[in-house]
Order: sequence, then C-alpha cells, then structure tokens
Amino acid sequence: MTNNLFTSYSIITYGCQMNINDSERIAGFFDEKGLKEAPAEKSDIVVINSCSIRQSAVDRIEGKIRKLRKIKNKPLIIVTGCLLEKDRKKLSPLADHVLPITLVSSWPLPFLKKENIPFFNLSLKRSGPTAYVSIMTGCNNFCSYCVVPYTKGREFSRPATEVIKEVKEAIKKGYREVWLLGQNVNSYNGGVDFSKLLKEINKIHGNFWLRFTTSHPKDFSDNIIFTIKDCKKVTNYLHLPVQSGDNAILEKMNRPYTAQDYRETVKRVRREIPDIALSTDIIVGFPGETEKKFRNTATLFSEIQFDMAYIARYSSRSQTAASEMEETVSEEEKRRREKILVEILKESSLEKNKPYKGKKLRVLVTKESKKKGFLFGKTEGYKTVLFEGSKELIGKFIKAEITDYSSWGLKGKISRK
Ligand code: 5AD
Ligand code: SF4
Repeated sequence: MTNNLFTSYSIITYGCQMNINDSERIAGFFDEKGLKEAPAEKSDIVVINSCSIRQSAVDRIEGKIRKLRKIKNKPLIIVTGCLLEKDRKKLSPLADHVLPITLVSSWPLPFLKKENIPFFNLSLKRSGPTAYVSIMTGCNNFCSYCVVPYTKGREFSRPATEVIKEVKEAIKKGYREVWLLGQNVNSYNGGVDFSKLLKEINKIHGNFWLRFTTSHPKDFSDNIIFTIKDCKKVTNYLHLPVQSGDNAILEKMNRPYTAQDYRETVKRVRREIPDIALSTDIIVGFPGETEKKFRNTATLFSEIQFDMAYIARYSSRSQTAASEMEETVSEEEKRRREKILVEILKESSLEKNKPYKGKKLRVLVTKESKKKGFLFGKTEGYKTVLFEGSKELIGKFIKAEITDYSSWGLKGKISRK
C-alpha cells in the first residue's frame, strides 16, 4: 500500500480537545494507508495540528517548525488545523505544506490518491482513555474576540445516528468515558436536540461517564439542567464559560446575557444538582475593560466559587470584530488582573476540594504520573486525583479514598471497597 518515500508519521497537536480528536482521525487515516506512527525525530512526515485562539499559540507553532527543521531526518512538515488566513500565509514559507484538515484524504502527498472522503467518515485512532466524539463543528456565535467562526466556519451538526454509532463503538471497545465535543453543544441540531442526544446516549448499555463541552450560557435551558440531573451517566460537571462579569464588556464581546443572567443560571443548576462541579473561561483585559469593569468580573468570580477556571489574557486576533477596537489594557495590567483571578480561584477551588477528604470516590484512571509508581485519575467532577498504582489500571474505574487535597487536586489511595 505504502511507498518508499513515506513510511512513518508523527502528529503534534496544539489546542483544545477538538484538535486532539481531529488528530486522532488523521492518525487513523495514515495508519490505514500503511504508515506507522513514530516520534517526530524519526518520522518522514510531521503534521502540526495548530490552534490560533491566541497569538501566543501561533508563535509557538513558528518556534516548533524551526526546531523540526533541525532534525537530521528532514521530515516533510505539514501544518494544518485551526488557522486564520493571515497565519496560514505567515506559516507557508516555513512549512512544506499548509493544508486544510478536513480534506486530509486529498492532501497532495504521493501515497494518497485524492479520495475526497468526508472527514467524519475517516476511522479514528484514539490516543487516550477518553473517547472524544465530535458532535458538531464550527460556530455561529461570533463572540467578538474569537477566531473560531473564521477558522472552522459555520456550525454544522453531525447526524445523531452517526454520533450514537460512534459512541456505541467506543463503549464496545471498553472506553469508560465519552466526551461529546462542539463549540456550542447546546445548539446541537443533528435530527434531535442536545438534551435528546444525551438521553439517547445515556440509554446505551455499559458502565461509562458521559461528558460534554462547551456550553454557552445563552442556550443553557432548564431542559438541559434536568437532563443532566436525570441521566445517570451524564457527569455532575459543567463547563460554562462566563468570559466577563461586566455587562458592558459582555455586550462588546457579543455575549448575549448579563452577569445577573449568568448568576441565575448557576443558581438554577445548583438548586437541581447541588454537588455539580463548575468550571469556566474568563478573558481579562478585553478592550475597554476599566478597573471598575474588571472588579465586576472579580466579584462575580469570587461569588460563584468555581471549581476550576481557564483565565486568559485578551489577545487581539485579525478578522475578529474586537480587533477593530482600541486596546486599552497593557500587557502588564492584563497579567496583574490574571493574577488576581488566579488567587481567587486558588481559594475557591481549595474550598471546593476540601469536602472530598475522607470520601471514597469513583475515579477513572487517566495516565501515569511523573512520580514513579503513581497514577493520575479524574473524579466525576473532573478533579485530578494522584494515587499509587500500576499502569495497567489506565482506562479503568477504581475506587479511591481521598486522603488529602489542595487547590489543584486531590490525593488518594486505592480502596478495595
Ligand atoms: N483572547 C483571549 N482568550 C480568548 N479565548 C478565545 N479567544 C480569545 C482571545 N482572542 C478564550 C475564551 C474561550 C477559550 C476557548 O479561549 O475564554 O472560551
Ligand atoms: Fe468562539 Fe464564542 Fe463560538 Fe465559543 S461560542 S467558539 S468563544 S465564537
């Protein structure tokens, strides 16, 4: 099947879980063509699956290509993934090819014969103990800071039948965690709505957790809250990006809800599911974010008491509406604001982790720790647990007794019962 020019490949993935999942399809496809996965230094082809959500992500790709150029083997370097036109042009002279990811089956490589296979029809080669299942691509929300509608295009939902088939296959293979992915899963429309999709997957026979990201506060209905509550396999964990706690900034971000709406949504969620773990995304230093406006974010942030948060410094991206707005917050000030939120998060996550001490929890073992003989796992609320155990346990559920906690996670020991 293969050719003597290319026998091995390596994929370097940046960015979110969707990119991880997309890389798993490229790997599946290349394997089918007879190539072998290998470390970058020993590969004939290196594919960089990129992310351009912030400028720093693009800079990192540039640095990576320069490094790869120094490899003795001189691999063919292909850049693909989530890129703006401008970044594609910038990376073109550095890479051998810059190619669209969804057209991988017709990339101009000698061992491919331009088959035009739809991306989601390519088989997957999963890279970890979580079965990621993309249920939709693209985004129609056009948050003013965000590149996704430009890099990934408009929203497209995969048919529910196709999604359910993929989930069933994963369960049959023994995966204990299914993670549904989309930029805005609450607006899923693949023949059924998102709640119905969760209910259908929840009915599939087997012992597994069902997670999903990302939810948008504007679409977070009672229907979905009750679905999470009622479906046993759907985990008590919710990632609900707030982005800002200031109404004027939310409006400029084109996020159609207020800080009060967000607070009420969280209240409704916690009333129905009291032990739900809640995480969020926040951007600091958006154009026009004065000290007072930032304080509104900090107040909401400490009030809600998140279990986890991803705090980002605003990065202007070309093509987006916000790139036309004048930047008013210096990099230094962005860092200061970021630090303030990190301190608040440290306190809230510590408080949230505290009650787990002494409890016995179900944990999905995810990977080896750098500490010899130790493993990492995740609880239902997506908290990291460090414990002693052998690597054969990866991908399995265990019971762990929690012996200690910190802001960033839990420590435990395997419990027989
Ligand atoms: N600058 C900073 N953070 C951003 N995000 C998206 N675009 C930008 C940007 N231009 C963050 C948002 C989003 C997460 C995936 O990345 O918080 O939820
Ligand atoms: Fe970007 Fe907003 Fe769409 Fe999320 S919802 S991908 S932040 S445009």
